[in-house]
Amino acid sequence: MEFFETDRLIARTWTLDDAESAFLMYGNPVVMRYLGANGAAATIPSIEAMRERLQQNLDKYATDPELHGYVWAALERKSDGVLVGTTLLKPIPFSDEIPATDIEVGWHLIPEYWGNGYATESGRGAIDYGFQKLGLSEIHSVAYAENAASIKVMDRLGLRHLGKTSIYYNVEVEHFVITRDEWER
Ligand SMILES: CC(C)(COP(=O)(O)OP(=O)(O)OC[C@H]1O[C@@H](n2cnc3c(N)ncnc32)[C@H](O)[C@@H]1OP(=O)(O)O)[C@@H](O)C(=O)NCCC(=O)NCCS
Repeated sequence: MEFFETDRLIARTWTLDDAESAFLMYGNPVVMRYLGANGAAATIPSIEAMRERLQQNLDKYATDPELHGYVWAALERKSDGVLVGTTLLKPIPFSDEIPATDIEVGWHLIPEYWGNGYATESGRGAIDYGFQKLGLSEIHSVAYAENAASIKVMDRLGLRHLGKTSIYYNVEVEHFVITRDEWER
């Protein structure tokens, strides 16, 4: 299923055939260092483990009512079909088990494809999708203060910096938001 298209990218559902490409992100500690609570997202050890993780996530997005309808997309480059990364638009976990109600946009790219504007482009597509297709009224984004590359994406997209917060993921992160009115201005 296709979620949305941008000039250079198609955001579509992941498949198990993407395991090798996904492993170039989630098997790489350089990509993983700012992911997960306290940077503790475990690097995936093998392509086989990556395939299992993709299956688990596909099942989760298909069955978990809290995630249903949200975006966990593989980003395919239109010019050659290469998978360059992922974009997400999903409920953001609150700290201490409080059920999530805010929606976050996020991006991960295979390092080979950094520096081309793909995260910004896919982020723009995901935000459009959230406001136009899902009818959201605001979209959040968070990153560790040290994650300069991700914070630059938020700045390029025009997200508003609210400062530091600890209300999500049980960690302290920089918190950005944009309302539908601000986006459409
Ligand atoms: C965060 C991450 C996705 C950012 O990747 P990125 O390639 O820097 O971001 P973009 O795709 O938006 O590309 C922007 C860069 O490409 C350049 N660029 C080239 N062509 C461009 C274009 N057409 N449009 C916009 N930028 C372009 C920009 O100048 C910028 O480079 P700079 O940072 O040196 O100024 C990447 O670092 C990553 O995958 N990190 C690991 C996962 C992660 O931490 N994700 C975020 C969790 S909060």
